[in-house]
Amino acid sequence: MRTIHLAPSILSADFTCLGAQVEEALVAGADYVHVDVMDGHFVPNITIGPLIVEALRPVAVRHGAVVDVHLMIEKPERYLADFARAGADILTVHVETCPHLHRTVQAIRELGVRPGVTLNPATSLSTLEEILPFVDLVLIMSVNPGFGGQSYIGPSTDKIRRLRAMLDAIGSAAELEVDGGIKPGNAPEIVAAGATVLVAGSAVFGGPRTIAENVAAFLRP
Ligand code: DX5
Ligand code: ZN
Repeated sequence: MRTIHLAPSILSADFTCLGAQVEEALVAGADYVHVDVMDGHFVPNITIGPLIVEALRPVAVRHGAVVDVHLMIEKPERYLADFARAGADILTVHVETCPHLHRTVQAIRELGVRPGVTLNPATSLSTLEEILPFVDLVLIMSVNPGFGGQSYIGPSTDKIRRLRAMLDAIGSAAELEVDGGIKPGNAPEIVAAGATVLVAGSAVFGGPRTIAENVAAFLRP
């Protein structure tokens, strides 16, 4: 039985009380903090940088949570040291932004951070074949990156299943994370396909219910 982790994406949080909102999610049982970094180039949106990671780090540490940084930026290698210094536990880069992906993954590990790689919905799993043995996490994007609150792209589930088979075939213990459009309703099929980390933004921080209730809806067996 694989351990399943819930990674609230702070993109949908209320930034006027970010620390308190993240704390509520972690107290309720989430165990990752997913930080979406966007540069307005690789994706159309601009969000946040190392300063927010640094501010959230003590909250995560207090609850034993993993600081999970998803870099949707061009030339991510320029900022790896800054995010490592700010307190990232995992740094995930898009294969679409890294012509020298092996070097980038190596650079992340040399900074003492766990390296992750991620794919846009239309990018083939075959682009991962050579890098899989070197990473601690693979992230499947189940929406086109750039915004929270989009709908889950259905065929992502089959992609997760195929990636699970690839990881098992090489005996990899890497986490299989999925990001975009995940709700309590579709989480079970995503986990059954082989995911171990579920990112959820609007389903944790949005809607009429409290953050604690939203987290509980995911964790309920
Ligand atoms: C999309 C981001 C996601 C997003 C998820 O570019 O990487 O992490 O915030 O949000 P929801 O769960 O609302 O789809
Ligand atoms: Zn993300």
